[in-house]
Amino acid sequence: MEARRFSGGRGGRSRPFPPANLSPVDAVTLGSSGAVAHFSLAHAHFTPGESVLVRGAAGSIGIMTVQLAARGGAAAVAVTTSSAERGDRLRKLGATHVLDRSGEGEGGEDAPEGYDVIIDIVAGADMPSFFAKLNPNGRMVAVGMVGGPPPADFGMTMMAAFRKSMSFATFSADTVAEADRRAVRTEQFAAASRGELPMVVHEVLPLEDAVPAHQKMDAGEVFGRIVLTP
Ligand SMILES: NC(=O)c1ccc[n+]([C@@H]2O[C@H](COP(=O)([O-])OP(=O)(O)OC[C@H]3O[C@@H](n4cnc5c(N)ncnc54)[C@H](OP(=O)(O)O)[C@@H]3O)[C@@H](O)[C@H]2O)c1
Repeated sequence: MEARRFSGGRGGRSRPFPPANLSPVDAVTLGSSGAVAHFSLAHAHFTPGESVLVRGAAGSIGIMTVQLAARGGAAAVAVTTSSAERGDRLRKLGATHVLDRSGEGEGGEDAPEGYDVIIDIVAGADMPSFFAKLNPNGRMVAVGMVGGPPPADFGMTMMAAFRKSMSFATFSADTVAEADRRAVRTEQFAAASRGELPMVVHEVLPLEDAVPAHQKMDAGEVFGRIVLTP
């Protein structure tokens, strides 16, 4: 997946799935977020040398997107996050610029003026303001809605910037063929088992702690993934 176009991971593999040296917790974490991150970048037609902004980067999908964009040769990988401490952690995973949730802030001083690709896991009321951060011919892909739905008239913001030829798309992994998902997961599991793709597991809790786990997520305490075990 290094410096080459994100192809969608077509083609079967015969390697074990997942490798024996990958723990079930790590396999669950990577398996549930890595393919979404990969195909989100592919859906955005990301190519090496382009600049990427990951909005809502501190969750498991965002963390994997940051890593894959960096490994894929992005010229810059900016992130939005709610604290400097989270920003430092994201820098260690490949982020080059740390912005606050509004896309501004301390780390914004030397950040690119615009991005070729925005992977948006947040949506919400602020989503239209991020269209202004797209370069001409830039692509925004909505992958999640952790901040709720965007304003009903968000498309008007894009239409007002008609001459920038921007694109907006949604992406759901439901539209990816199982064989393609499996091929990408196999490739990512192999990279992880070589130590090249670290997983961020916030906490491992027993299944009966599902309620407190969700409360922690709602309180914004989670960086990465909580894994529940039977
Ligand atoms: N497209 C697909 O195929 C697919 C597949 C699975 C899941 N999803 C979707 O992906 C989302 C979950 O992804 P995830 O687990 O990676 O995310 P997450 O951990 O729930 O959230 C990601 C980050 O977003 C930031 N955030 C939360 N609320 C926010 C708000 N109101 N405004 C701005 N930032 C906010 C938080 O970071 P900071 O506090 O650092 O800002 C949080 O860590 C869900 O919407 C789910 O439906 C999509």
